[in-house]
Parts: sequence; C-alpha cells; structure tokens
Amino acid sequence: ESIETFIEGMPKAELHVHIEGTLEPELKFELAKRNSISLPYATVEEMRGAYDFDDLPSFLKIYYEGMSVLITEQDFYDLTYAYLEKAHAQNVLYAEIFFDPQAHTVRGVSYDTVIKGIRRAQLDARKNLNVDTRLIMCFLRDMSAESAMKTLELSLPYKDWIIGVGLDSDEAGNPPLKFAEVFKKAREEGYLLTMHCDVDQNNSVQHIWQTLNDIGVDRIDHGVNSLEDEALCAEIIKRKLALTVCPISNGYVTDSMKTPEIKKMLDKGMRVTVNSDDPAYFVGYMTENIVKTQQEANLSKNEVIQLTRNAFDGSWLPQAEKDKLH
Ligand code: ADE
Ligand code: ZN
Repeated sequence: ESIETFIEGMPKAELHVHIEGTLEPELKFELAKRNSISLPYATVEEMRGAYDFDDLPSFLKIYYEGMSVLITEQDFYDLTYAYLEKAHAQNVLYAEIFFDPQAHTVRGVSYDTVIKGIRRAQLDARKNLNVDTRLIMCFLRDMSAESAMKTLELSLPYKDWIIGVGLDSDEAGNPPLKFAEVFKKAREEGYLLTMHCDVDQNNSVQHIWQTLNDIGVDRIDHGVNSLEDEALCAEIIKRKLALTVCPISNGYVTDSMKTPEIKKMLDKGMRVTVNSDDPAYFVGYMTENIVKTQQEANLSKNEVIQLTRNAFDGSWLPQAEKDKLH
C-alpha cells in the first residue's frame, strides 16, 4: 500500500475549516441562480481564473465577495452539507467548523438564518453520513470589538450549538488584545477559545504570546511563527495546546507551505495538526493537505499518524467521545 493510499483511508479529524471557504464555484453558480444574483463570471473556469491571491488581504477580498450568494437558510444548509459529504468521502470522522456571522449580518442576512441552516446540515450529516461536528463562531478582527461583542450576544440563545469562539480575518493592526474583553465574556459564557495567529504576520510572536498571557486560549490557529521563540514553544507544549496548521493555504498566502516547520513542530512534541482552511479556494481538502505535507517534509507513516492523533486529542470533544473515535 502506498503512503497516499494509507492517508486517503486513514480516519481523520479536521480542526480548522471556514464553512464559507468550502463554497465551490459550482455551488456558487447554483445559489446565484436561485437567488437571482448576477455574477461577474460566465463559467466555473472563469471564476477559478479570477482566484488571484498571494497574501491574506488579497485572499480575503475574494473570500468575502464569494459569500454574496449565501442568502437563505437553505443556502447555508446546502453549503454545509456539501462540505460534510466531501469530508465523509475522505474519511473525516470529526470536524470543528468555523463560521463568520458578521460577514453575513453586515449584508442583511440574519444571525438566525445562518446558524439554523448550518445546524440542520450538521444534524443530517450526523445521521446520514456519521460525521460528527462542532461549530466555532469567529469574530472578524478587522471589525470593532463592539461589533464582536454584539455578535457574542446574538449567539447566546444558540449557546448549546456552539462549542467555542475564534478570531479570523485581517490580522494587520488587529492584535488579540483588541478583543480581550469579548473573549473574557465568551469564557464566562462557557465557550472554549481559539484565535488565528496567521503565518508571517507583523508581530506574530507577540500576538501568540498575547493569546497565551492575555486571552488564555485553548488552541492556536496556525501559530507557525511560535518556532521563532523557544520559550513560547515550551509554554505551548506545557499547556498541551493544539496548533492548526494549513499547509496548502500557507502556500498561497505566504512564501511557502511551511511543511518543514510542521516537521519541526512534530519533532519538538508540539500538538501540531494539518487542516484545509478554505478548501474550495485553495483547492485541497484534508487528504490533499496531509499528502502534500507528507511528500514535502518526507514524513514517515508514524509521523502522519501522529498528526492525526494530535487532531483527535486536540479536539474539543469530551474525553469519552475522543476515546470512541480512535
Ligand atoms: N478567514 C478565512 N480564512 C482565513 C485565514 N486563512 N486567515 C484569516 N482569516 C480567514
Ligand atoms: Zn483560517
């Protein structure tokens, strides 16, 4: 059996995927038609051809534009169910899924519409595909802390449907500390906490320290630049925090897929995981991300298994549920 075949068949867990980043061009066209929205492209090929990004802001522009077709609860259902079918086909048994409510409420789509559509797809996928999922609500860090706080309040009636909160979008000038009060309140409400510390941002190391010392996160999304600071690595290891690295995504928005860094993290005993981030835009789901990592960093089968173990162990499932999955 080749290592690729092994990776394809291996049971997987995904901890870093933005549901809006799973919107494939085909579904984008279908939803545009359903909602009578005209798109500036005639074909799927033309749309993909316009996916031109080489850093985080240029990616985010296309990512937010793409969401304009998501209007009704059924749209969010179809988006989520399509991702979960794809995940199931790659033997993903468990996924923690980000969603960006503010990207929809600013367009006049209600919080309820978004979360109800996603939730219904989660329940159907659990039943029909045996894929187990949890939801993580992300705040957009390039919006104000007040807007994040309002969004947190909107989420409270749905608290039982959300396991934690995260922070994403453009990191430049938007450090973790900007949201200290919001995350403190989120913690008091019982949410687990994570934050993006995107790769090769200004003050990356400082931002990661803030997530530990000022926020008290339960996970770090990306966090690759922690390798620049031995004491920071030691603290992350001590706290057993998972890092959700997204190699194919990194290949687009930074100068490399950072796979040697993934290997270094494994060697140090950090709880590093491999994830897809925005698979419809970066063209690679879980299997493709793990295969690329294995090839580029020349990982052994045991190292590949360790990456997957880290994802199940670092998930936010209760221990009894983790034990059932692997
Ligand atoms: N939103 C969606 N994908 C993102 C990423 N890779 N970084 C920051 N915000 C995002
Ligand atoms: Zn992300």
